Amino acid sequence: MKKFYLLTYGCQMNESDSDIIRQALTQNNYQETYFREEADYFILNTCSIRERAVRRVVGQIHDLQQHRRQKPELKIAVGGCVTQLEGKDLAEKVSGIDLICGTSNFHRLPEFLEELSGTNKPLIRLEDPTISKQNDLPVKNGGHRHSTCFLPIMRGCDNFCAYCVVPYSRGREISYQHAKIIEQINILRDLGQQDITLVGQNVNSYQDGDVNFAGLLRTAAATGIPRIRFITSHPRDMSREIIDVVAERPNLCPRFHLPLQSGSDKILGRMNRHYDRKKYLATARYIRATIPGSFLSTDIIVGFPGETEEDFQQTIELMKEIRFDLSYMFKFSSRPGTKAHKMTDDVSAAEKQRRLEIIIATQNELSKLQNDRFLEKAVEVLVEGPSKKRATEMMGRTEQGLTVIFKGDNSWRGKMIPVRITETYIGTLKGEALIA
Ligand code: SAH
Ligand code: SF4
Ligand code: F3S
Repeated sequence: MKKFYLLTYGCQMNESDSDIIRQALTQNNYQETYFREEADYFILNTCSIRERAVRRVVGQIHDLQQHRRQKPELKIAVGGCVTQLEGKDLAEKVSGIDLICGTSNFHRLPEFLEELSGTNKPLIRLEDPTISKQNDLPVKNGGHRHSTCFLPIMRGCDNFCAYCVVPYSRGREISYQHAKIIEQINILRDLGQQDITLVGQNVNSYQDGDVNFAGLLRTAAATGIPRIRFITSHPRDMSREIIDVVAERPNLCPRFHLPLQSGSDKILGRMNRHYDRKKYLATARYIRATIPGSFLSTDIIVGFPGETEEDFQQTIELMKEIRFDLSYMFKFSSRPGTKAHKMTDDVSAAEKQRRLEIIIATQNELSKLQNDRFLEKAVEVLVEGPSKKRATEMMGRTEQGLTVIFKGDNSWRGKMIPVRITETYIGTLKGEALIA
């Protein structure tokens, strides 16, 4: 049996696509390996969101050339956002690639790998992501390596935020059929899946006929899957209706990822985000007031063109006011083809780094404070298995998605166990199981 090694960069969409790769290949007599030396096929699912990501791909392929000396028959396939943006030119720019595929044709990988054995020339199997069609959602009945199963409900993005390449790498936004999504959730539920994450670049703008995202959430909740999450939400499209549905249904997890990007209205305008700090704050306050124990995470970019110290201070102020539970923080990286690429990248590298370090420190304090909310409280933990450090300790997650470590045994795997939280850290909680 031929073995493949799969390396995934990027966001939830890439993770979800990698699940499709895994499923397609394992169902066609390929086996996944976690050791590079064993691989007959090396598959790289790339991300192009920041400049460093592109350089990483080039580095990876360079390293693989060493491997190839020992194993000349090794085939290298590259897919994802970098290939979709660079197109077939990538094969000329970076030597050693055998197959270039896109972001929407991964389910055909077994067929493409088959084709590879007959040729030495790089095979280009890109699709045009700008072609808008409500193409069928590939059936997902396995393949995921995470405790939560990512289920795509849409693809593409139409928002054209000034800094972002995604609308170019993934094309126009398309919502998958509501009935198909529910069918998938039912299949996964019958397979015993307990935790599902509905994914899209902007799930709140989901629309299939007269079913909007709140409608989809209602029917998804009715399938009875114990935990349903979703990422990513765009603040412009986060309605009270969606928040109310999450508040009403116990199996819709109280976790929201609502990328703020900046706390300055001037910068938000330049970023083409279509909301201001007032609107964002109102949404965040509504979430906090409506859903006890809500977990609110965000993305922040520092050093966007034109960001002054004052703009930056407004971001920090808003972070503190909202008390984010978690932030993904980035230095602005100018990407060719985007609107921001035409703006002067006027915040120096050193200043971007300084601002980044300040918000990381701010967020660490906030995360600890937020986690302290759970001290001495009993939380329901879905047990995933032994902790990485000790076999006598189990690891699981709260409905907010927080990692909890506690003494227990392996027979608890897959069960919901009540745990009293006794210690909190930035990224994890520790506790004691409330059962013998
Ligand atoms: N669809 C999601 C996010 C997609 S990209 C959304 O709209 O929220 C994930 C994050 O990467 C973004 O939220 C943004 O914070 C960051 N990002 C995107 N482009 C970037 C760039 N050019 N430079 C720095 N960070 C960027
Ligand atoms: Fe990028 Fe904006 Fe679309 Fe998110 S909403 S993927 S940041 S263009
Ligand atoms: Fe990266 Fe593509 Fe996701 S550029 S962030 S993998 S949509």
